[in-house]
Amino acid sequence: MRAAIHIATTRLSSCLRPILLLDLVSCSPRQFSTPRRLICSAATKASDGGGGGGRSGSIVAPPVIEENFQKIDVNPPKGTRDFAPEDMRLRSWLFNHFKEVSRLFGYEEVDFPVLETEALFIRKAGEEIRDQLYCFEDRGNRRVALRPELTPSLARLVIQKGKSVSLPLKWFAVGQCWRYERMTRGRRREHYQWNMDIIGVPQVTAEAELISSIVTFFKRVGITASDVGFKVSSRKVLQELLTKYGVPEKLFGRVCVIIDKIEKLPIDEIKKELGFTGISEDAIEQLLQVLSVKSLDDLEDILGGAGEAIADLKQLFSLAEKFGYSEWIQFDASVVRGLAYYTGIVFEGFDRKGKLRAICGGGRYDRLLSTYGGDDIPACGFGFGDAVIVELLKEKGLLPEVRQEVENIVCALDKDLQGAASTVATALRDKGQTVDLVLESKPLKWVFKRAARVNARRLVLVGKTEWEDGSVSVKVLSTGEQFQVKLSDLE
Ligand code: HAM
Repeated sequence: MRAAIHIATTRLSSCLRPILLLDLVSCSPRQFSTPRRLICSAATKASDGGGGGGRSGSIVAPPVIEENFQKIDVNPPKGTRDFAPEDMRLRSWLFNHFKEVSRLFGYEEVDFPVLETEALFIRKAGEEIRDQLYCFEDRGNRRVALRPELTPSLARLVIQKGKSVSLPLKWFAVGQCWRYERMTRGRRREHYQWNMDIIGVPQVTAEAELISSIVTFFKRVGITASDVGFKVSSRKVLQELLTKYGVPEKLFGRVCVIIDKIEKLPIDEIKKELGFTGISEDAIEQLLQVLSVKSLDDLEDILGGAGEAIADLKQLFSLAEKFGYSEWIQFDASVVRGLAYYTGIVFEGFDRKGKLRAICGGGRYDRLLSTYGGDDIPACGFGFGDAVIVELLKEKGLLPEVRQEVENIVCALDKDLQGAASTVATALRDKGQTVDLVLESKPLKWVFKRAARVNARRLVLVGKTEWEDGSVSVKVLSTGEQFQVKLSDLE
């Protein structure tokens, strides 16, 4: 603190000095705002004109004032999580399943920055996601945002790669997303999303395989078709109706976003919002009627059999049979999804008890790239959050207890043998074995307790007599078997 006060005061007029010092000394940590501002502006002025050698236009960080203490809230910000080791083990277990399933299907992993330009997420359709954006101006006056989803970043990367990549691309990512959401069960302000996307395949075979990968994941973690299902529809259903009523194509995204709110808003509100887009009352009535359709046959009666919507959906259900997940999916015209960019098949994973929000969701977005100035490439994918699935697994008693595990505990029996224990630890680690090396002189009782806590497989003890012979004592903890072995033979 003294240093900060000194720098600031030497650059302030002498009459200010005593007041500033007095304020800083007498202030409690929470009352620092006035002197802080004084110091900050003084420092800024000094570098602005004072020949401090700063680049012109550079930003001057406020000086750090070391306070004696500042009592902090030890909880993370509302809606965010810490991952203590036990939480992290569970998270790794879940992410490993995401990653292994993606690799099983031949996808390559990608990642993007959590911080993106705000413009990437600004779409005109009035989506909820826009109001939930964590956005701000950075120190270079650029508007930036914490990503609320991964799809726009993926689209950006595909455009950037251009013709240097050969299609189709099959990419997956697991990344943190930020949305300023109202907190409910399974919805938070920060979550991780597993995404799988296929770029460059216009056929429904792509959507069919994506759903198959999610089913594979569910099966691996013990979830069955009687626990969860997928509601499937196609935005082309709405598109065909809107075309029939002469609604311009540019309104499509906006209409879908309004319709997606149907379960959250009173129906009159939905009708009013749809009315604002200029859609006729007749069209609105027909749209709302179609949304209640739950069978493909009924839909065919309304739309006629010739349209793309029916053809796509029929092909998807036929492929579901071939992939072997028919019992998991059902047609439901009310699934529209809240993101404006979907253009074809859309789907949502739901829990059959109806207690939780959507487990995952995705669909086809063939025209997203052109909204960023790129050439359109057919694309589809899904996002699968880490929060709802954990709730579901917990409820079903399927959440594993993932224990800390280490293969060896290495311990010196004598203070002078700490160096020798380090040599033993390195030899084992070089052979790929995990080692928890005891770094202090501890009684054996303590070492055994620790071994039990970290679920060590064996104890490697470095004692004086054995070590003189280049050997160590090994105790296999599960069997109690004990033996001496030369370090070079220790496997
Ligand atoms: P989304 O439906 O907005 O789609 O999110 C996908 C999934 O992310 C949700 O089903 C849910 O599991 C999880 N999720 C979303 N928001 C939250 C939250 N606040 N808290 C916890 N979990 C959440 C998308 O984001 C699309 N970009 C998915 C996609 C990828 N479509 C094509 N490719």
